[in-house]
Order: sequence, then C-alpha cells, then structure tokens
Amino acid sequence: MAVDIAIDLGTSRTRIFLPRRGITADVPSVVAVGEEHEELLHFGEAAYRMIGRTPPPIRTICPLGNGVIAHFDWAAAMLAALLKETVSAKIRMPRVAVCVPVGLTDVEKRAVIDAVSRSGVRQVCLVEAPVAAALGTGIDIHTPHGTLVVDIGGGTTDMAVISLCDAAVSRSVRQAGQVMDEAIIQYIREQHHLLIGQRTAESVKQQIGCIVPDIRSGECCVKGKNLLTGMPGQVTVAAEEITAPLQTTAQAITGCIRELLEATPPELMADIEAEGIVLTGGSAQLPGFDRLIQQATGLSVRIAEQPDLCVINGCGRYLRFLRKAA
Ligand SMILES: Nc1ncnc2c1ncn2[C@@H]1O[C@H](COP(=O)(O)OP(=O)(O)OP(=O)(O)O)[C@@H](O)[C@H]1O
Ligand SMILES: [Mg+2]
Repeated sequence: MAVDIAIDLGTSRTRIFLPRRGITADVPSVVAVGEEHEELLHFGEAAYRMIGRTPPPIRTICPLGNGVIAHFDWAAAMLAALLKETVSAKIRMPRVAVCVPVGLTDVEKRAVIDAVSRSGVRQVCLVEAPVAAALGTGIDIHTPHGTLVVDIGGGTTDMAVISLCDAAVSRSVRQAGQVMDEAIIQYIREQHHLLIGQRTAESVKQQIGCIVPDIRSGECCVKGKNLLTGMPGQVTVAAEEITAPLQTTAQAITGCIRELLEATPPELMADIEAEGIVLTGGSAQLPGFDRLIQQATGLSVRIAEQPDLCVINGCGRYLRFLRKAA
C-alpha cells in the first residue's frame, strides 16, 4: 500500500504524521551511539534519558542543531529507525512532506532530502515551518489575507507573514528553547556555583520559567555538581531569578518580529493589525511570551492550541495538497 507521510524533523523533537492515523510518533531528536562499531543503540526517549549519563564507549548525539542537520548519518539513521518502528513494513512511502526552517541554504535543503530519501522515499517535498504552522492552526492560507505566525521551537524561531499559501516575508533566528536552557545553566553556574546538565536546565525552564516577572511563582530544587567542592550539590532556584536569563533570548526573538513587521507590505500589515500574531512551537508555552511580544509590537498575540503540534499537524494537512496536485 502506498501512503504519503509528513515528518517534522525538529531540533528537539521528531514527529511523524500518517493520514487517517494522525501523529504516530513524537520523540526527542537524540540518538545513543556505540563508539566501537559506530552503531545506533537507541533513539528517542531512551537516548534522551542517557544524555550526560553514558559511559565512554557510548555517546549521545543530537543529529539536528538549530533546525538543520548537524550529523547527517545519524539524522538518516534516526529517521530510518523511527519510520521502521511507526510505519508498517507493508507501506511504501511514495511522497514525504518534511518541515524545514525558513531560509535554509541549498546545501542544507539537500541534506534533509538525502537523509529522508535513505529510508526509501521516492519524492521529498519541503514545507517551510511557518506555512506548516499556519495550516496546523486551522488558518485558511489560500486567501490573499496576511497572517503572522511565529513558531518558537527548540533550535530556531521561524516567522512569516503567510498569504496565498506562501510566505510573503519571513525570518529565522537561531534563538529558541535550547539557548534558554544554556542561559539557565550559565546563570546557576555563576550565581549558585552549581554545574547542571542540559536535561536539568530544560526541566527547570518548564517547571518555573517565565518571560515576564510576576506571572509565575514557585521554586524548584536543582541538583548538580558543586563547583567549589567538586561534590554533589543542590540549590533552590526561584521563578523570578531565571526570568532575566530567559528574557535575553525572548528579546532577540521580539527584535526579529519587529524587523519582520518593518519589512511587511502595508496591505498585509493592515490584516495583521486586525488579527494579531499567532504563536506556535513548544517554547510558545513559556508563560509571558505572548505578553512580551504584545508589549514589543502593540499587536494582539494568541497562542495556538497545542502549539508544539501545529507544525506536524500542518505538515500532515499539506499532504492533501500534494495528492490534489498529483
Ligand atoms: N511547557 C513548556 N514550557 C516551556 N518550554 C517548553 C514546554 N514544552 C516544551 N518546551 C520547549 O519547547 C522546545 C521544543 O519545541 P518544539 O517541539 O516546537 O521544537 P522543535 O520543533 O523540535 O525545534 P525546531 O523547530 O527549533 O527545530 C524545547 O526547547 C522545550 O524545552
Ligand atoms: Mg519545530
């Protein structure tokens, strides 16, 4: 049986969508690799749990960095393993729609096409993240009406004004969730003399992170390595402490949105003024992101439902266009 497939090869998570079944896989974009024979041992959740915890013959690799393929062979191997697990062996994959950040170079696009093609796919179609995100929120993108979508993911923030199924203006900035995790690591190292890992930082961000002060309270106990004694250590970190480190990234993103608005033609600007901005992507869930963007642009801002799934759902909808065009 021939079935088209949609893939969101994200920096943090890889997702697969099958027609009539919906999202069939949503796993961290991580592989665990045996050094000796360079073989893939684990991928997804199992590999993610190993980050920072592997003995020397094993290492964990994130095959994607800032939305692009950083380790070609491991990206291809991860995808092949995931497709094998989620797609029945009886299914042939004639066409695959893959979501990519806006503004990729031809070499970066080629790498995505080649990595997906290794799994026996006949035709690979690339869909830009904001177009997929807009489709995933249910917006009708066929009309000559401008919609500003900002997808704040793990490795990149992609934004575009969509009209007539395409991006009229777009921007991509390599500032998103993972840069925020790094900012938390640096803050806790400098202020509390505690070294923490990437996974701990991400968990702190998700538990108590917020972008503007006073909208989230609480604290969390953070464990790591005391840099003064070299021994295990733990500190209590309050929500208000990490707002400032997170704001640096958030402000870079709002600056980019302002630039995009400055480049937007006036007719489309009128549509955006009326409808506001739509936020998608996992990092859009950080409390206060909408408010900061609203303050910086003067426009209303709405967070899409299930913002982390908009891109893959939109990529899935895109498959219908492919079928109609065929
Ligand atoms: N509840 C939450 N609060 C804050 N951040 C969150 C939450 N849930 C997920 N995230 C963050 O969202 C990011 C992942 O978002 P998403 O799945 O959209 O990224 P991606 O598609 O893999 O990456 P990219 O599109 O940049 O290649 C991670 O940095 C994660 O920490
Ligand atoms: Mg994404």
